[in-house]
Amino acid sequence: MKCFFAFKDKFKNKGGSRSAPELQSKSKSDSSAVKRGTKSSSSLPSPRSIQELYKEREQKLRVFTYNELREATNGFNRLLKIGEGGFGSVYKGTIKPSDGQGVPIVVAIKKLNTKGLQGHKEFLAEVQFLGVVNHPNLVKLLGYCSIDGERGIQRLLVYEFMPNRSLEAHLFNRASPTLPWKTRLDILLGAAEGLAYLHGGLDVQVIYRDFKSSNVLLDEDFKAKLSDFGLAREGPQGDHTHVSTAVVGTYGYAAPEYVETGHLTIHSDIWSFGVVLYEILTGRRVLERNRPTVEQKLLEWVKQFPADSGRFSMIIDPKLRNQYPIAAARKIAKLADSCLNKNAKDRPAMSQVVKSLKEATQMSETTAGTSSSSSSGSKSFQRKPK
Ligand SMILES: Nc1ncnc2c1ncn2[C@@H]1O[C@H](COP(=O)(O)OP(=O)(O)OP(=O)(O)O)[C@@H](O)[C@H]1O
Ligand SMILES: [Mg+2]
Repeated sequence: MKCFFAFKDKFKNKGGSRSAPELQSKSKSDSSAVKRGTKSSSSLPSPRSIQELYKEREQKLRVFTYNELREATNGFNRLLKIGEGGFGSVYKGTIKPSDGQGVPIVVAIKKLNTKGLQGHKEFLAEVQFLGVVNHPNLVKLLGYCSIDGERGIQRLLVYEFMPNRSLEAHLFNRASPTLPWKTRLDILLGAAEGLAYLHGGLDVQVIYRDFKSSNVLLDEDFKAKLSDFGLAREGPQGDHTHVSTAVVGTYGYAAPEYVETGHLTIHSDIWSFGVVLYEILTGRRVLERNRPTVEQKLLEWVKQFPADSGRFSMIIDPKLRNQYPIAAARKIAKLADSCLNKNAKDRPAMSQVVKSLKEATQMSETTAGTSSSSSSGSKSFQRKPK
């Protein structure tokens, strides 16, 4: 499912050639509730901005020439194309190490659409946020290419390659082998830890704004890493309760209060996390138009099967073939319900979500061998796919 954009962003800085992305202040549409330097009532010093942090760390990112990346992808060969999103196409490529020595490195190269609705602002956000963050559950940005030349505009991003693609590909693609219960929990926990770090582990609070199964990438061990920071924003500062923004994100995942008001808070990310919790439990997308009307909207459909009811197991992904502990599944559904609380402030913090997921993991380990309420399920757990 692609991002939606309620506004159009034009490319800036026409003409001239530049290799490093310019650090700009926020656009007007995105900043109304955030006043940098505003002190809170407790007179705490203002946290440093992402831009300040980025200036300290930017030297870590490699600046590529367009030719280097064209060569790395064999001329952006379509056989090397591994995905396509709202921002552009992603290619598998091979680059030389920065010192030119040693074995080539396999990377993912995202070539942004330069004619689409999205543009420079999302590119800058991606470079700045990923240039600053550092966590095992966030994808690593190795470098970028940014050219505004006479021959046109080019924006490319170079990431560590994630061999197991995205959670979306594994959950919904019929050709993919079933993700076992334990792997699902590990992925959720990794993604939750990445999000908890963004919300509370940096000098500045980061609202991710695009949490969805296609942005949870999987490494060779199926460890989850969040990708796509083009829509990320710094959280509100001082006495401000929210950041006012144009409404952007992905249909189905965005929190209702954010869609209605444009007021962005970390609670919006928690809602999106709740949506993915139900996707993982059910193996269904948040919106499936090819189903009977009552089943099309995942969040509406699951309401008929409350976590405490006898009917609950009917919503669990049939691909799991009853190979999951029902108590842990109920716990995940209850956690999802709390994340999907209409009242944003009553949603749990990501640190609490991490705690609940660890408890569900423990329950799954201690009850390993039990299956769902159905007596027909076999008693063992599948191993992680290799
Ligand atoms: N670092 C990476 N390593 C391996 N595959 C990747 C990597 N980054 C992206 N991909 C693949 O490319 C696909 C497209 O990614 P992209 O972020 O462009 O779009 P999306 O997340 O599907 O949608 P949107 O642009 O709306 O967020 C991903 O789903 C994933 O399969
Ligand atoms: Mg993505």
